[in-house]
Amino acid sequence: MLAGHRLVVVSNRLPAVIRQDEDRWEVAPGSGGLVTALEPVVRANSGVWTGWPGCGGEAPVEALLDQFGERRGYRLIPVPLDGKDVDGFYHGFSNETLWPLFHDLLGHCQFRSSTWQDYQRVNSRFAEVMSRQVGDNDLVWVHDYQLILVGAELRRLGCRNNLGFFLHIPFPSPDLLRRLPWKEPLLRGLLEYNLIGFQTLRDRRNFVNSVNLLDDVQIIARKRYHTLLQYRDRVVRAGNFPISIDVADFERRARAKEVDEAAWFLHENLRGRQLILGIDRLDYTKGLQQRFLAFERALEICPEMRGRSSLLQIVVPSRTLVPEYQRHKELLDREVGRINSRFAESGWVPIHYQYRSLDSVQLLAHYRASEIALITPLRDGMNLVAKEYCACSIDNNGVLILSEFAGAADQMGTDALLVNPYDVDGTAEAICKAFHMPLEERQQRMRRLRQDLRRNDVHRWVGRFLQDLVAAGRVS
Ligand code: G6P
Repeated sequence: MLAGHRLVVVSNRLPAVIRQDEDRWEVAPGSGGLVTALEPVVRANSGVWTGWPGCGGEAPVEALLDQFGERRGYRLIPVPLDGKDVDGFYHGFSNETLWPLFHDLLGHCQFRSSTWQDYQRVNSRFAEVMSRQVGDNDLVWVHDYQLILVGAELRRLGCRNNLGFFLHIPFPSPDLLRRLPWKEPLLRGLLEYNLIGFQTLRDRRNFVNSVNLLDDVQIIARKRYHTLLQYRDRVVRAGNFPISIDVADFERRARAKEVDEAAWFLHENLRGRQLILGIDRLDYTKGLQQRFLAFERALEICPEMRGRSSLLQIVVPSRTLVPEYQRHKELLDREVGRINSRFAESGWVPIHYQYRSLDSVQLLAHYRASEIALITPLRDGMNLVAKEYCACSIDNNGVLILSEFAGAADQMGTDALLVNPYDVDGTAEAICKAFHMPLEERQQRMRRLRQDLRRNDVHRWVGRFLQDLVAAGRVS
């Protein structure tokens, strides 16, 4: 797949988490789909992974990462960030400007030139650290919105390698992007890559329509999976590559005895009730407030659900230092309290709301124990929870309710119940429909969802991207 090239990966977070346990420092594998997908490839060709170790300068970062890298079979190179960097680059421009803008939530955006400066400075720092690692024949793969300018900074440092970029979140329409005072340097930054990957065709089109407004960009060809652009003297390829999960691994782990027991126990506590599951990072893009309102409405229009169904919502703490996230948590706490106090009866609570993360056994047990998954982001690059839920529905009897604004809807829209999360009544009707769906229909839909998922797992995603990156060729 790599045709003899070594792979250099860069992402904002490294695939390792450094923690302090009393006075000892520890390093553990990071979680998430990207790590599962890329680690085997980086390991197999003795590649390098660069990123922010996520902790301050007090930890012995290099020694811990060397130790970790030796165990895992590849090298990890840290890009240390100080408090000011984290504030302006990570909390600020990445998460208060790009994140809401790219998720079509303009009202949540802050536009501050000071954080834009921080973003440029930190992207350039990432590039400097990387340039010391990158050899002539290496392929470079940059991940996500925090690091858009790394490619341009590498070019500035004289790097002529094949550079690929993958955006894990959506790409906004040209009209929305116009609001960003720094759209042009950002678009030109993207055009420094040989290959730019998006989750969906819509994201790719939004990008192509945006760069098409620049006077030195021409569209040369539109193909099924990519568009070729002429940018100055170079050809740039923009493609769509929907990310996925390690389906076989999820299926295998979901069958484990400990998961089976944990799932039984979960359901035993809620005997005779259908469990509706939501699992999300605490983020205003996830549509949690609208989801609670839709569940409340479902209890009104479908009173037979009262006492016979509960929404189990796990909210994983995230970006807790960003004020917008703190305000959102307060809003959700209030909403759950209001709905529960309206409907709860002795022995039944409509919404079980937990603000914490789950370990792997508990996560899989929750997937297995739930009859319905309610995944209703206002906008989402892909949403891997939807895919994980289906992979773990090993009895094929789960129903997936999915937002039409999640990237996953492109592949799962036929057999999931698609909803518009802004339409509270419509989502409530889908919840009632799922609650009443006969077993045979559930099984038919879930079987098809899982078959498709097995064909399109994360290994295929990595393979397709890297194959295209190799084909994209060196800068002439
Ligand atoms: C999304 C982004 C990732 C990011 C993750 C967690 O999935 O696409 O780049 O790492 O959220 O957010 P955090 O800010 O904690 O890294």
